[in-house]
Parts: sequence; C-alpha cells; structure tokens
Amino acid sequence: MRLEPRAGERIDRGKAVSFTFAGWKVTGFEGDTIASAAFAAGKRVFSRSFKYHRPRGLMCCSGHCPNCQMTVDGVPNVRVCTEPIREGAVVEGQTLDEAGVRRLATLPSRDVLQAQVVGVLAAPLQQLVTLLSAAPREFVVVLDQIIQKKQAEAA
Ligand code: FES
Repeated sequence: MRLEPRAGERIDRGKAVSFTFAGWKVTGFEGDTIASAAFAAGKRVFSRSFKYHRPRGLMCCSGHCPNCQMTVDGVPNVRVCTEPIREGAVVEGQTLDEAGVRRLATLPSRDVLQAQVVGVLAAPLQQLVTLLSAAPREFVVVLDQIIQKKQAEAA
C-alpha cells in the first residue's frame, strides 16, 4: 500500500526498481529505501528475535534500531530502512550459522553479565572511597603521634 503521490516526494514513480526480498520479487521506485519498497509491497517482517524468533517489523525507520537488519547482496547487518533501493539487489533475512549459535550458547547468563556490569561500575567508586578516606586516616595517625609526643614530654 502506498500513499497517494504528493508534491515534493522523494521517490520517482516513473522509474521502477526491482529486487528480491526474502525470495519474493519486489518492485519499488527510485528514491525508495529497501524497507519502504518492501513495506509498500506488503512485507511486514524484517528480522526475528534471537531467543524466541519473534517477528520484528519496522520500528524507528531511521537507522537506529536492530529491527530491520538484513543481509543485502551478501553484506550482513544492513539496516534496510536507510539503504537505498537498487536494481537486482538480493535482500535476505539473517540466520545464524552453527558457529554463531555455538557462540551465543556460550555467552554467560544474564545474572552473570549483570554481576560483571555491577563489578565494573563499583570498582571506580570503591577506589574513590579508598582515596578519599586515606587522607583523613593519615591525618589521624599524625595527630595521634603528636599527642603521644606531647604526653611523653609532659611526663
Ligand atoms: S527500523 Fe530501526 S533501524 Fe531500521
């Protein structure tokens, strides 16, 4: 579904451009992005979530989220919402190969990752507390030595 033509639009409706989207032939217009042409052709699923394989559609349409990452002419992780359409392009969904699945499977659990993040964030704070408490601690030691010296002199 496309909007009606209007003045100042970026696409040139006189120049059709065709490409393959997940095995389907899709035709858009010069000036389209791959995503805008595919969406106009009725495509709604552009990627899938890693864990549950849930369908992901266009979300930001500005190149700032992972929802539309696809493989374009063999190049993975192309955000098709900002990728200009081109004749004969081959656009495919991304699937993990066996090595990719194994790498994902060896990632630490969420709890472990959260603990690592907390550890990294806490370390500088701990160092700051140690640094700030070092000066008063040394001052107390010096005062204590002065007191002992005065007491020794008085005795
Ligand atoms: S829809 Fe978000 S980067 Fe394309």
